[in-house]
Amino acid sequence: MIQLTQLVKRFGRFTAVDHLTLCVPAGTLYGFLGPNGAGKTTTMRMIAGILRPTGGTVEIGGIETWRQPQAIKAMIGYIPDRPFVYDKLTGAEFLRFVAALYGQEGAAVERRMDELLELFELGPWRDEITGSYSHGMRQKLVIASAFVHRPQLIVVDEPMVGLDPVGARVLKDLFRAFVRRGGTVLMSTHTLEVAELMCDRIAIIARGRIAAEGTMAELRAESASGNESLEDIFLRLTGARPPHALDAVLDA
Ligand SMILES: Nc1ncnc2c1ncn2[C@@H]1O[C@H](COP(=O)(O)OP(=O)(O)O)[C@@H](O)[C@H]1O
Ligand SMILES: [Mg+2]
Repeated sequence: MIQLTQLVKRFGRFTAVDHLTLCVPAGTLYGFLGPNGAGKTTTMRMIAGILRPTGGTVEIGGIETWRQPQAIKAMIGYIPDRPFVYDKLTGAEFLRFVAALYGQEGAAVERRMDELLELFELGPWRDEITGSYSHGMRQKLVIASAFVHRPQLIVVDEPMVGLDPVGARVLKDLFRAFVRRGGTVLMSTHTLEVAELMCDRIAIIARGRIAAEGTMAELRAESASGNESLEDIFLRLTGARPPHALDAVLDA
């Protein structure tokens, strides 16, 4: 569904994404992990067609993003890390507006909107302006809006941040159900337990490059003991500071 080939993004002299090659098969929930600044958001913005690559290509369903941007955007639901909504619109108006951006309106869209609002427990607030919503409610609305035009691919950046336990559960179940029905999800997350439980495949990136890629079983098989947790694997591959350094910090 997604094929990244030698993808590069530079900001001035800084290389944020460094010749990244990655394949996300259709019908998988794919976890995109890496420390802060690894290049996850930059990569996802290039996949969503918001940021232009410095080099390499992004193909979605065999189509290169920068050749057919509109066709690609119709296939994707992108959920950015910072939820953006128009404060003066109500929840229902916002979803209707997003659907209209994709050229969709009418009874079927209204029904879908109602289902999504109910799912995220926003039904009672559907006619309140989003300016009065909490951060978590806005986030739920933005997640709902990514599904409103029936995309084939969801690209979602750190979705768990700011969600309450019910919202997080709804999100997990929704993504799994979406994938079961043939959809594809690329999800960046810092919640390693969530990734370990939910994702079919995982890529760990560090400094703009792939450090490891595969199913949980494949990632484990590469480690010496063969039974490392995802946290162990992540910390080993991304070169985290060893715990003894903490004493030096606290003693200083
Ligand atoms: N618009 C930008 N201009 C300059 N540097 C940027 C820009 N966007 C991201 N970066 C840099 O690129 C690196 C990767 O950032 P990002 O993709 O947001 O990482 P992640 O999402 O994995 O935390 C960071 O060092 C960040 O400072
Ligand atoms: Mg990010």
